Amino acid sequence: MSSQQPDASAPIGVFDSGVGGLTVARAIHDQLPGESMIYVGDTARTPYGPRPIADVRRFALEILDGLVEQGVKMLVIACNTASAAVLRDARERYDVPVVEVIGPTVRSAASITRNRRVGLIGTQGTIQSRAYDDLFAMRPEIALSSAACPRFVDLVEAGETSGPAVHEVAQQYLAPLVAQGIDTLVLGCTHYPFLRGAIRQVVGPDVALVSSDIETANAVFQVLTELQLLRPPGSGEPELRYEATGEDTAAFVELARRMLGIGIDAVDRLETGAIRLPN
Ligand code: DGL
Repeated sequence: MSSQQPDASAPIGVFDSGVGGLTVARAIHDQLPGESMIYVGDTARTPYGPRPIADVRRFALEILDGLVEQGVKMLVIACNTASAAVLRDARERYDVPVVEVIGPTVRSAASITRNRRVGLIGTQGTIQSRAYDDLFAMRPEIALSSAACPRFVDLVEAGETSGPAVHEVAQQYLAPLVAQGIDTLVLGCTHYPFLRGAIRQVVGPDVALVSSDIETANAVFQVLTELQLLRPPGSGEPELRYEATGEDTAAFVELARRMLGIGIDAVDRLETGAIRLPN
């Protein structure tokens, strides 16, 4: 790939396994309303959490390659599981800057905690990768307690974000972390902000919830500013495009509209397997 400076008027490429990364896309749009974006949800292969990390890596690189071919100026891996799987590869592989969700979220949690007991919830893949543990290890004063919450992503993708069943699952996953006396909880999956109400109800009002959406949007803002890649004024109306790999793009539109209030008119179907990957 060429090492030219990316075109500042090009869109930002944002990617997740499904609708979760829309929380990040929304936060980016709120901070940088003049930027164009292409959002890809790999809905055909969601959830990533229970899959072997090598599969997640392959899927993620396939989609990121596709975004680069579409000419994006920056890649945002709006998925913790994919960030854990490909971060190092992605930074070496692409000339455009790559922003992921784990680093910014850890920095924020570390600055918020007062009692230095931080809880982390994420998918099985994220928790098993120990990507968060590696970053928190640089702050040995912080005690990290983690829990995988495998059912959360399925609930969100099914549009189920509140009610007694969600509360019961949240209680089961979160009670052991609350018992550790945490004062900060990292929502280490971009689907989890959709469950914020249920999570808040279980952890109570005194635990700070840190999610990847706003922290990642801050990182996007900072990197674009530093690299002088903010979309120049006078580049025309910004364009927001959505692509999903699953057949049921209507379900994606419906979920996105209901959960984020984003006015998505259309989602393009993206074929997977079209992009050749190196071994
Ligand atoms: N939003 C993805 C994450 O942040 C969900 C992973 C999944 O598909 O299981 O980890």
